[in-house]
Amino acid sequence: MSRYRHELHSGSAEAAGRKPLADYIAEITDLVTIELKELFPEQWNVPASLREAMGYSLMAGGKRLRPLLVIAACEALGGYRKAALPVAAAIEMIHTYSLIHDDLPAMDNDDYRRGKLTNHKVFGEATAILAGDALLTHAFYSVVQASRRYGIPAECTLSIVEDLAEMAGPRGMVGGQVADMEGEQGLTELEQLRYIHLHKTADLIVFSLLAGGRIAGATEEQLEALRIFGTKIGLAFQVQDDILDLIGDESKLGKKTGSDLKQHKVTYPFFIGLDASREEVERLTETAKNAVMEGGFHDCSRLLEIAGYLMKRDH
Ligand code: IPE
Ligand code: IPE
Ligand code: MG
Ligand code: MG
Ligand code: MG
Repeated sequence: MSRYRHELHSGSAEAAGRKPLADYIAEITDLVTIELKELFPEQWNVPASLREAMGYSLMAGGKRLRPLLVIAACEALGGYRKAALPVAAAIEMIHTYSLIHDDLPAMDNDDYRRGKLTNHKVFGEATAILAGDALLTHAFYSVVQASRRYGIPAECTLSIVEDLAEMAGPRGMVGGQVADMEGEQGLTELEQLRYIHLHKTADLIVFSLLAGGRIAGATEEQLEALRIFGTKIGLAFQVQDDILDLIGDESKLGKKTGSDLKQHKVTYPFFIGLDASREEVERLTETAKNAVMEGGFHDCSRLLEIAGYLMKRDH
């Protein structure tokens, strides 16, 4: 076994001379931001106002968690980061569109996002809606570039497009948002809340992991491990979001706290209390980690580190 391989399989990343997680995240964030800046082919004639509204939210400083998961899953299976970048950018477009629409007066009616005024506060509701629509549509163009530019087999891109339509659409994130909206105040079962969290939040996270895995040529067994990992960290991520909505620091979060109370949302802390919600985040994170450790990966250490980091996040 080479020194490099030996170190990958023993001890922490830092002990092995690998980058600390914070540097790895910063590196991926920069690459994704560059990819997003090259959004449109030069010859495309896009209205300046639409370009500006899309760029405003894309460049507002999100954590880029979903792109990070695409790349980390791809690399955990020994795949090449560059070929995964168009898909990483695509999921960030879908996520950003979901936030622009989530903040609209007809939905959560929020004024701040990513430390700035929300899209509709700056550009007006009509442009914000259309900027969201444009990001959603353009994400599919971006996914296809994995094949066009980096030679990812068309069959693989087809599966990624299919997953994206499933997990961002009516059976996925949009379905979850509708259930979230309809569930306000009326929720009586924890199972209903679980449905909302699974779909409005976990599905895009699951998509990111599966897509990264697919680009690296994952087996069905590895994809299943990624699906379980994503479902568990996705649920934990939304429970933590609900906790931070109650007790988080607005200056770190870049959005107002108390949004759920204002909208009379039923959340995990509302249902089971803060302490039990924190325990749930820990329990879900442990289950997630076990799934990837048993998934037969080339090197799952980044995925494990990311799960640990998300459990402790304050923004
Ligand atoms: C916020 O997502 C919306 C949820 C699904 C909880 P993030 O917390 O990932 O938001 P950004 O991308 O960092 O702004
Ligand atoms: C948002 O959930 C989920 C999506 C945008 C799909 P929240 O409404 O809890 O997210 P925040 O708290 O506004 O970021
Ligand atoms: Mg919402
Ligand atoms: Mg919201
Ligand atoms: Mg929230």
